[in-house]
Amino acid sequence: MAKLAILASGSGSNFEALTVALRGSCHEVCLLLCDRPGAMVLERAARLEVPARLISYKGRPKNEAESELAELLEENGADLIALAGFMRLLGPELVRRFRGRLVNIHPSLLPAWPGTHSIERAFAAGDNELGVTVHLVDEGMDTGPILAQARVPRQGDLAATEAAIHATEHLLYSDVIIKLLNNIAEKTC
Ligand code: GAR
Repeated sequence: MAKLAILASGSGSNFEALTVALRGSCHEVCLLLCDRPGAMVLERAARLEVPARLISYKGRPKNEAESELAELLEENGADLIALAGFMRLLGPELVRRFRGRLVNIHPSLLPAWPGTHSIERAFAAGDNELGVTVHLVDEGMDTGPILAQARVPRQGDLAATEAAIHATEHLLYSDVIIKLLNNIAEKTC
């Protein structure tokens, strides 16, 4: 058994997909860390009975918030950390401390369209092929070694394209994370 911690800021659909997928494995989501009071991901965590903590970044230096975050990850025994819509760039100290154990999902075929509003920008630019990337986290914005990508064809409108990309994210992220957790636990459940 290996333990996954998830960092999220928003709706939490990837958090929920990962949590549900791990319940069919021998691994567990040990902790949700969220940086936004009132984020829907906190409601999902309560419903799914996943321990959750809010990390406040407001009115304090970023490295202080990140030290608290790092301590919680260690106290809770996180073997792997999945960023699931965590909309902050991690500081270099945090990246160094957990290098190789931090994974991110991004809704584009990186290196295309890093940053925010990636689906909208790709759609507006007329891309016919969009997609999803799962990668290890380094000090950059949506950079770092790519672990997996999935292509998603452009749909009739933006909403349908977003829905297709999110559905693909949920499958791809669960698949990659379970494989990484299996490697950590050195067995397949
Ligand atoms: C997801 O589409 C994820 O790929 C994206 O935020 C969304 C979170 O959705 N992440 C990034 O853009 C990272 N740069 P969710 O809260 O429903 O999981």
